[in-house]
Amino acid sequence: PDSNARFTLDPAFTVGEVNPRLFGSFVEHLGRCVYTGIFEPDHPSADEAGLRTDVLELVRELGVTAVRYPGGNFVSGYRWEDSVGPAEERPRRLDLAWRSTETNRFGLSEFMAFLGKIGPQAEPMMAVNLGTRGVAEALELQEYANHPAGTALSDRRIAHGDKDPFGIRLWCLGNEMDGPWQTGHKTAEEYGRLAAETARAMRQIDPGLELVACGSSSQAMPTFATWEATVLQEAYDLVDHISLHAYYEEIDGDRDSFLASAVDMESFIENVVATCDHVGARLKSKKRIQLSFDEWNVWYMKRFEAENTANPLDWPEAPRLLEDNYSVTDAVVFGSLLIALLRHADRVTVACLAQLVNVIAPIMTEPGGPAWRQTTFFPFAQASRYGRGEVLDVRADSPTYRTAAYGEVPLLHATAVRDKDTGAVTVFAVNRSQSDPLPLRIALTGLDVTHVEEHSVLSDADPEARNTLAEPERVVPHAGEGAVLAGGVLDVTLEPLSWNVIRLAAG
Ligand code: AHR
Repeated sequence: PDSNARFTLDPAFTVGEVNPRLFGSFVEHLGRCVYTGIFEPDHPSADEAGLRTDVLELVRELGVTAVRYPGGNFVSGYRWEDSVGPAEERPRRLDLAWRSTETNRFGLSEFMAFLGKIGPQAEPMMAVNLGTRGVAEALELQEYANHPAGTALSDRRIAHGDKDPFGIRLWCLGNEMDGPWQTGHKTAEEYGRLAAETARAMRQIDPGLELVACGSSSQAMPTFATWEATVLQEAYDLVDHISLHAYYEEIDGDRDSFLASAVDMESFIENVVATCDHVGARLKSKKRIQLSFDEWNVWYMKRFEAENTANPLDWPEAPRLLEDNYSVTDAVVFGSLLIALLRHADRVTVACLAQLVNVIAPIMTEPGGPAWRQTTFFPFAQASRYGRGEVLDVRADSPTYRTAAYGEVPLLHATAVRDKDTGAVTVFAVNRSQSDPLPLRIALTGLDVTHVEEHSVLSDADPEARNTLAEPERVVPHAGEGAVLAGGVLDVTLEPLSWNVIRLAAG
């Protein structure tokens, strides 16, 4: 069998334009994502608002766009009004989702200030509580946040110091309402009605909002697909997006299957697209529902479940929860998940890496101490920086390997994005082989590129290598060797178990 992988790139064959929102992330009131993560007034680097400037710098470097807030499971018990007004008067509350005490020291206004400091590319993606609450409270939050002035709630915002409305356009109608773990969990029929009623009412205030209905918490949920069909039957004309969530982990040492996680992600996306379009056709609608993959990552969830034996009488503030430390292998899988999202950029128009800091996150911090980049930081930052433009259709021939979970899987997983202004093309590619380099040949047709600007590789002789407090720069990308572009053909060899960014440019 041919041990080479190959494909052709041709600007006549494209997938679609990348929506910048594909590089979103997620800040939940969970563990230390907010407290001692992005917000730590006593930290030496804290600014006047209590935000850690060392973290802000890394968030900018990461290149995040839309930021989902404030949950997650947390939102299903969220009382937004607790989180605004003078900080010293805000109530302390039990957070049922994560068995913690929420001080409300950080709230809506602080979150908006945080986004402002990330920069103009940062956009809020605000979730309303459809677990313990409903239409009325969603409308109140919308009025507080977005109405200019002259009503009780908009004037309250102004009195709290935020003269200008926040102008939040993108809203999530609850979180994972299909999950029995969710406070206020509902059946598809119940949730579909509530989502439709909430969407209708929110649009009465502002028809221009963009609304996300909850889809399934994973493709493995027993209600998967019937959930989406039932919810959309109620809410099709009232919402713009349906959400997808997926987390992957290596189970029982089956690394071959773990490395193929993106097979599941791509089939999940394609199945949800099929369901959406089926409902649309049944309703004779011309509208197409977009996909919001608003939680995705590698997450060692089974380890978390096993270790999460908290004392039931304990309600700690900002405990250390879900602080996964990612290996280089995790980062390769993570990069492959980014490739899966880009390969479906025509329908996935929002995606949020869950989460941003400390909680299954690319950025880690110590209270009072430093902040550093996990291995997963690098693929995300590179994809956000160079994955802007038009996704070219990649149909690769690749040698395969056998997995227990997905059968035969290609060793190569790849996509390519063309910058429409400069003509530069960036190839993102993963070699899933744990042992062998993978020679790759790319034929370039009708593309105005002449040389390899950069070949960046994330791999390591030790597949378990990771960045830690003690060794924060143990794993960083290095320059690849031997990539040659000549006569319209690129030849490159991908190291075993590697994430690759190959930038091709003209001139
Ligand atoms: O991101 C961690 C949790 O995973 C979120 O709170 C929830 O929505 C999902 O189950």
